[in-house]
Amino acid sequence: MQNLIQTLEVSLEERSYPIHIGSGVLSNADLIGPHIKQKKVVVVSNTTVAPLYLKMLSATLEKIGVAVLPVILPDGEQYKTWETLNLIFDALLGAHCERSTTLIALGGGVIGDMGGFAAACYQRGMPFIQVPTTLLSLVDSSVGGKTAINHPLGKNMIGAFYQPRLVLADISTLDTLPDRELKAGLAEVIKYGLIRDPEFFVWLENNLEKLLARDKVALAYAVHRSCANKAEVVAADERETGERALLNLGHTFGHAIETGLGYGVWLHGEAVAAGTLIAAELSCRLGWLSPDAVRRIEQLFVRAELPVYGAALGAVRYLELMRHDKKVQDGKMRLVLLREIGRAVMSDVADEGQVAAAIEARCT
Ligand code: NAD
Ligand code: GLY
Repeated sequence: MQNLIQTLEVSLEERSYPIHIGSGVLSNADLIGPHIKQKKVVVVSNTTVAPLYLKMLSATLEKIGVAVLPVILPDGEQYKTWETLNLIFDALLGAHCERSTTLIALGGGVIGDMGGFAAACYQRGMPFIQVPTTLLSLVDSSVGGKTAINHPLGKNMIGAFYQPRLVLADISTLDTLPDRELKAGLAEVIKYGLIRDPEFFVWLENNLEKLLARDKVALAYAVHRSCANKAEVVAADERETGERALLNLGHTFGHAIETGLGYGVWLHGEAVAAGTLIAAELSCRLGWLSPDAVRRIEQLFVRAELPVYGAALGAVRYLELMRHDKKVQDGKMRLVLLREIGRAVMSDVADEGQVAAAIEARCT
C-alpha cells in the first residue's frame, strides 16, 4: 500500500494536469520526465526544504539528463513579498532562462504560491510544476493554480491564476514536517469535510489520531480525498466565480488574524481553524447550524490541537481587515457560512453587528 501511486486529474481541457499521490513519487523519473522539455530546470525552494529534498529531486532529474538551477529563498510567510519574488526573477534572468524553461516549486504553500506567481509572470508564463512538502500544500495550495504574494494591507492580495502542469504529491516528505505544521495542515483537510463532504468529516472524526500519528495509509487517504474534492471544485469553477469561493471557509477571519498579528505569527492553518469556528458561531447565531454541530466541529479542531478561538484583535480591527477580502463585492462583505456539516454557502445576510458579535464570542 505504501508505494502505491494514485493519480487524479484536474480537468481543465487543454490545461488539465495530473496529481500523482504516494510515497516515493519524488524519486520516480517516469512521472516527471514527460513534463520537462529542456535540459535545464529551475527549482525554487527554501533554506529548510532544500537541504532535505533538493538532492533527491535533482537525482531524479539527473536520471533523465536534466540539470537543476536551484533558487533558495529565505523561509517564512514574512518573506512572501515582492522583494523575495524579485530574487527568483534575478536568478531566472541571470541564468538566461527561457520561456520554455520549467520552474519547479519544492516546498510548502509559501514556496508554491511564490514560485507559481514567478512562473506566471516570467516572460508572461513559463511551465510550472508543484512539488508540495507540507500537509497543507499537499491537500490544498499545490492544486488549483492560485498563486500570490502578500501585501502589508492584505494577504495574497497580489497574484494570478496560473495552473501547474503537474503536481507530485510525495507523502513521505511529511516524515520531516514539524508537528505544528502537520496540525496546521489538518485545518484545510477538515475544511473539505465541512464544506462539501460530510462522509469525509465522519471519517476524520474516526481517524484523526491516525493522522496525528502520521499513519501513512491514513495520510495517503486524506491527501487523496482532499485533492479529489479540490480537483472537482477547481474543474467546475477555476476562476472562483461561484463554488470555489467555498474553499475559503474560515479564511476571511483567518486572513484578518494573519495580517493583524503580522505574517508568520500564527500559521495559516491555525488562523483558518479559529476562523472556521467564528464562521460556525455566526452560522449558529443565524439559526442555520445547530449548537450540536458547532460542538462537533470544535471537538475535531481541539483534537487536532488547533486554536478554536481567534486572536484578540477586537471586532473593529477584524472588520477593518476583512474589508480587504477578495470576496467583497460592491463594498459588501460576503462570508462563507455553514448550513450544516458538509454544506457551505456564500452569504451576505449577516450585518456587521452580527459578525462583530460572533467575533467577540469566539476570540480570547
Ligand atoms: P510554509 O510553506 O510556510 O511551510 C511551513 C514550514 O514547514 C516552513 O518553515 C517550511 O520551510 C517547512 N517545511 C516545508 N516542508 C517541510 C518538510 N517536508 N519537512 C520539514 N519542514 C518543511 O506553509 P504551508 O502551511 O505549507 O503554506 C501556507 C501558505 O500557503 C500560506 O501563505 C497560504 O496563504 C498559502 N495557501 C495557498 C493556497 C492556494 O490555493 N494557493 C491554499 C492554502 C494556503
Ligand atoms: N485555497 C482556496 C482555493 O484554492 O481556492
